[in-house]
Amino acid sequence: MRGGWRLGLASLCAGTLAAVTAVAGTGTLDDLDLRIGKALFQRAWVPAPSSTHGDDGLGPLFDARSCAACHPGGQRARAVIESNGHIEGRGMVLVLGRPDGSGDPVYGRRLQIDAVPGLRPEGILAVRQVAQPGGRLARVPTPEDLGYGPLDAATGMSLRVSPDLRGRGLLEQVPESALVDLEAVQSRGPDAVHGRVRRVSLPDGSTVAGRFGWKAAQPSLSAQSSEAFFLDMGLSTPLHPEPWGDCTESQTTCRAALHGRENEDGFEIPNSLLTRVVAFVASLPAPQSPTSARGALLFASTGCAACHQPVLPLAKGGEARMFTDLLLHDLGPGLADTLPEPGAAASEWRTAPLAGLSDALSRRTGLLHDGRASSVEEAVLWHGGQAERAVRRFQALPRREKDALLAYVGRL
Ligand code: HEC
Ligand code: HEC
Repeated sequence: MRGGWRLGLASLCAGTLAAVTAVAGTGTLDDLDLRIGKALFQRAWVPAPSSTHGDDGLGPLFDARSCAACHPGGQRARAVIESNGHIEGRGMVLVLGRPDGSGDPVYGRRLQIDAVPGLRPEGILAVRQVAQPGGRLARVPTPEDLGYGPLDAATGMSLRVSPDLRGRGLLEQVPESALVDLEAVQSRGPDAVHGRVRRVSLPDGSTVAGRFGWKAAQPSLSAQSSEAFFLDMGLSTPLHPEPWGDCTESQTTCRAALHGRENEDGFEIPNSLLTRVVAFVASLPAPQSPTSARGALLFASTGCAACHQPVLPLAKGGEARMFTDLLLHDLGPGLADTLPEPGAAASEWRTAPLAGLSDALSRRTGLLHDGRASSVEEAVLWHGGQAERAVRRFQALPRREKDALLAYVGRL
């Protein structure tokens, strides 16, 4: 019995030792695996050393202690700014990087707002709201109380809220050929909606379509979850073996801090745990919405559906009703961050899946990648670039049709 299994047992109190080992031997994932995955998703990790071996290894620097801290109930986080300009709670991260794809030389690829006892966090995540013509407020990250000196002059920043995770298992099953087809169709379309598949390299050198994250940087739920364990919680995985997470070479105290107990294959999060968390996330069903022929028609005729594709096919049959094309689109300077990367420009974003929007609206999470929009209409008015013609058509709609379209989107 290694630490990882003990963790599953300790946190679940479900099944017997024999049952867990039996599952481990079969190689197929079942209900018990999903329950273990759910427990791991909710588990608050602790710094090393701890008496509960197997759930330690958090940090040394981290953003949150659990997946659920940022994705409450598997849904998106609230992106609320307090009166002092600080971000409320967890669930928003500040991504750092330089145009060549590297991280900040000192701070790495995340601004970590928390640390194990005795180590200084990297800073406080604060945001300045800047009024735009028309009264809309843009969000400019202004990290405070930087613990390790100034950011590098070439470092850019991208403020991102944790997305809804429901239905992402389906998005993983959309065949890459369907995305390539959409790319071709859009390149010939009349609206200059020229989305493109983001190509990302795998460790073996091959390239595949990126689909996850606001800029489609990650090709799979497994890669996305490994990155979260590593960058947001400081836990090593087979994809990211360094136990110190995002501590850079110049953060020597951080690198020298105690690390978690390594599990059966030498990582704080071994494959056996990673696959169960991923299976749990993949099992979260897609949000359901009422159908409305009139709403769907307006959504298509206004041009929203060109990017927010209501339906994508699945490789094994069936469909994903998620309202995305998984492609990157240039939405213009109004939505750009200051972090161009080799695979995605500062103004390029993956079409945000609109399924689940009604829950986001009722929880007042804020919309768009940094939560700046408080309503569907405001979110639409931020669209520029390739969405310009759709926005112009939207603005030209008679009030009643505009309301019908907004109501339709608000119920997704
Ligand atoms: C500190 C907050 C934070 C933590 C902790 C966190 N996430 Fe996330 N998650 C995010 C953010 C922010 C994004 C968007 C990332 C981007 O745009 O690059 C994201 C994106 C995702 C996505 C992609 C969703 C999509 O629509 O593309 C998945 C899947 C995911 N997270 C799963 C997890 C899992 C599993 C864990 C725990 C191992 C986890 N996350 C922990 C903040 C967090
Ligand atoms: C050219 C492609 C494109 C078109 C056309 C388009 N969108 Fe979008 N939409 C996007 C992208 C990309 C995002 C993510 C932008 C961001 O977060 O910065 C987005 C985000 C959104 C959001 C916020 C979703 C969230 O999770 O926060 C809403 C709401 C939305 N779009 C509605 C619409 C409506 C309604 C229309 C039609 C009037 C429309 N969009 C047309 C590409 C498009």
